[in-house]
Amino acid sequence: MTPKMKKALSNQVNAELYASYLYLSMCAWFESKGLPGFASWMRVQVQEEMFHAIKIFDYIHDRKEEVSLEALAKPESSWDSAQAVIESAVKHEQKVTEMINDLINCALDERDHAANQFLQWYVAEQVEEEASFGAVYDRLHLVGNDSAGLFALDLGMSKRGFLPPAV
Ligand SMILES: [Fe+2]
Ligand SMILES: [Fe+2]
Repeated sequence: MTPKMKKALSNQVNAELYASYLYLSMCAWFESKGLPGFASWMRVQVQEEMFHAIKIFDYIHDRKEEVSLEALAKPESSWDSAQAVIESAVKHEQKVTEMINDLINCALDERDHAANQFLQWYVAEQVEEEASFGAVYDRLHLVGNDSAGLFALDLGMSKRGFLPPAV
């Protein structure tokens, strides 16, 4: 693996861990606002992001390279509404999608076909991530300021469990 590719993949380990940390912060916000269903949904997303990070961590080791971990940034922790939380999560996933696209461009520039193939999993995963956050955003938009609606939506959100994503 070229040093440039290795650096780019290591950065992505940090980005996925940061996403996990950001969603944990969102989970805490939902807990504090009496929305345990949203908190539980977000807790599952924390595990998904951890999975995304470790999958790259394992890949770097499979290629017989060393991983060096960097500090995580402090995540945002205050939002005005449930909709604002999910809106920033949607924006964050769009940013991650851009990062994956940049990583693939890097793999192509470095003629690293193995990394390119490995990263295709993340291309499909980002479609799923943007769709699942987008669906929550749409539901919150429908509910608007109706607290009975938000209560009902919260009950449904608790049904999500963590299944390791298909590899
Ligand atoms: Fe991710
Ligand atoms: Fe996912």
